[in-house]
Amino acid sequence: MTDRHTLLSSIATEADRDISIASLFDAEPDRLENFVMREGPLRADFSKQALDAAGLKALLDMAAKCDLEEWRSKLFSGEKVNTSEDRAVLHMALRGVGGTDENKAEVAAMRQRMADYADTIRADGKFKNIVHIGIGGSDLGPRLVADAFEASAEQSLTLRFAENVDGASVNDAIKGLNPAETLAVVVSKSFGTQETKMNGESVRSWLGEYGNSNMIAVTANRAGAVGFGVAAENVFDFWDWVGGRYSVWSAVGLSLQIAYGPDVFADFLDGARAMDLHFRDQPLQENLPVMMALVGIWNRNGLGYGSQAVIPYSRRLRKFSAFLQQLEMESNGKSATRDGATSTLTCPVIWGDEGTNGQHAFFQWLHQGTSEGRYGGAPVDFVAVLKDHENRPAHHAALLANCFAQSEALMLGKSEEIVRDELGTRPDLDALAPQMTFPGNRPSTTLTLDELSPNALGHLIALYEHKTFVQGIVWNVNSFDQWGVQLGKVLATTILDEMEAGKSGDHDASTTALMQLIK
Ligand code: F6P
Repeated sequence: MTDRHTLLSSIATEADRDISIASLFDAEPDRLENFVMREGPLRADFSKQALDAAGLKALLDMAAKCDLEEWRSKLFSGEKVNTSEDRAVLHMALRGVGGTDENKAEVAAMRQRMADYADTIRADGKFKNIVHIGIGGSDLGPRLVADAFEASAEQSLTLRFAENVDGASVNDAIKGLNPAETLAVVVSKSFGTQETKMNGESVRSWLGEYGNSNMIAVTANRAGAVGFGVAAENVFDFWDWVGGRYSVWSAVGLSLQIAYGPDVFADFLDGARAMDLHFRDQPLQENLPVMMALVGIWNRNGLGYGSQAVIPYSRRLRKFSAFLQQLEMESNGKSATRDGATSTLTCPVIWGDEGTNGQHAFFQWLHQGTSEGRYGGAPVDFVAVLKDHENRPAHHAALLANCFAQSEALMLGKSEEIVRDELGTRPDLDALAPQMTFPGNRPSTTLTLDELSPNALGHLIALYEHKTFVQGIVWNVNSFDQWGVQLGKVLATTILDEMEAGKSGDHDASTTALMQLIK
């Protein structure tokens, strides 16, 4: 295995030349063929990246030197690739791919139990509402998926979420609901998370006499859930080989199964399964998650971009960038390698919002803002859905036109010469023309889904999961732990204990002054 600093520096050297994205379409006649990939309903167009065939070849050579294929085999065979926690990583087994016979048997049994439970609740009619309580990976996936399922599936029970420890979160979740008709689903892999336990307690006390009968739990810590007071027969398990941010496919998705039905959830799993098989079986150069990961490495380590925007042109995918923030930044936002050395540049900041809304906010910066990246602004992943699920053809056409126009505008820009021509002679021409010029040559990828079906959504999420894995291998970080969240959690507990005891503790002057504000 070659040293990552050397390998990634070679990518920086390769990228250190001016590439004109628009010119690549002439220079590389088969560019669309080479830079567009499809898996089922998902098409990915990487042709508007500032990456040419030579750059792509360098990236693929580098990936091979990182033993990517060996790591991929280890992942699917259930080796403990989460080395710092000594765990396998097998969220794919929840979709029926990879893992041991034992993993397969536990998954099959749990899937059956969830489907039976969901069917029973749906048929019984006693419950009209679900309050899903959880945070991070126990919230973002289910919330994103619930929004997206709305495009094509029918929600049979009202589904609300309580995640933040801010009392507004739980208050909003239970507002207007009848405890007798509400099922509380407390979801926590560890069952040690402050926010979830506090929200669980508050909902239990709101449930009153239904506090026991109307509360179930989903966890990898059964003893913790039972200790919290959930009846053992109401606990749904998952396993330490399912990372929190990769857990929506497990019993963490139980609320979704109850609200939308087990068949809808099964389609979602099948979509991810197709992407798993693609990732597992396709050679690196034809592999969609690998391509996406390498494009990201090019932008980060080659062109020096510190952030990556993700803009879904779909209201129903509005939580996608928040979901990816956890998936990518909690997985690869690290500065130590697997063996404890200092890493090279790793995960960029992931950010974004739904289109077209973002166009009226931060797109100014995307088109003309300065940044450390070679061509300015930030690389963008556009995500669009081709089918109109809203029965509003005019709206849908406008939505898609905006999406496609933005990637074209980012690439082509508008030269000062054209601007000057348009402005004609005027006294302020020299001052105004540069302000109205668009530099262009700003990279983007456009992902399209034929429709926003559960199956297509499964493809999309699994694509980013595998992208994240590949980048972690190239950066040589463990993508499956999250030590960086511990320190703040410990300090919050100390500060809360001290505030409750009326003590000021041993803190810096600023923190002490803040604590005194609430005395
Ligand atoms: O704070 C980070 C984190 O540990 C995430 O990794 C996880 O998804 C979230 O907290 C919630 O954890 P749990 O499911 O154990 O409550």
